[in-house]
Amino acid sequence: MPILIRTEHSDDITSIESITKQAFANAEHSNHCEHFVVNALRKAGALTLSLVAELDGSIVGHVAISPVKLSSGASRWFGLGPVSVLPAFQGQGIGSQLINQALAHMQSSQAAGCVVLGEPTYYSRFGFTAASSMVLEGVPAEYFQVQSFGDSIPTCRVVYHDGFYCESEA
Ligand SMILES: CC(C)(COP(=O)(O)OP(=O)(O)OC[C@H]1O[C@@H](n2cnc3c(N)ncnc32)[C@H](O)[C@@H]1OP(=O)(O)O)[C@@H](O)C(=O)NCCC(=O)NCCS
Repeated sequence: MPILIRTEHSDDITSIESITKQAFANAEHSNHCEHFVVNALRKAGALTLSLVAELDGSIVGHVAISPVKLSSGASRWFGLGPVSVLPAFQGQGIGSQLINQALAHMQSSQAAGCVVLGEPTYYSRFGFTAASSMVLEGVPAEYFQVQSFGDSIPTCRVVYHDGFYCESEA
């Protein structure tokens, strides 16, 4: 059965929460709040893109995209993540399909670029690179990567949406 990547429906919300929780349960560098983040972004109207991976009628993966603020004032930059695949389905290319489709969607929506916080070895395969000119304060630079859809990378500090700083369901 092929994987279907599609935008979330309102009746996917509980599954997305559960998948996110399960995916990050044993993840390194996680505060185990990622499911709260997805809910907070949605509630704030800041879930720019929310794609699910559906297999045989069940949701097995999810990726979120939300706007980020740049101190340079540049607009139309976005943050990719959280990305979650149910542990039993990891390593089968589902995360890659979610990320590639999310990036393709943002590029065709005239986004200027995307940033990501995560394992550099994983995200570099999707075109993300470390860019010393864009800084996310408080994290080691190598874990913060960027991908411009245009021909320039701004020099600026980057701030994720407030939804990322919640530690429980509001
Ligand atoms: C990260 C995640 C979304 C990847 O999804 P996936 O469907 O397993 O990924 P794919 O099958 O497309 O790719 C698998 C490859 O990614 C690599 N990979 C997966 N997680 C990785 C990580 N944290 N660091 C480095 N590489 C990683 C695997 O080693 C594998 O490499 P290979 O292709 O060379 O064998 C999934 O493993 C997951 O949900 N992890 C827990 C939550 C998490 O850490 N999310 C990312 C932070 S936002």
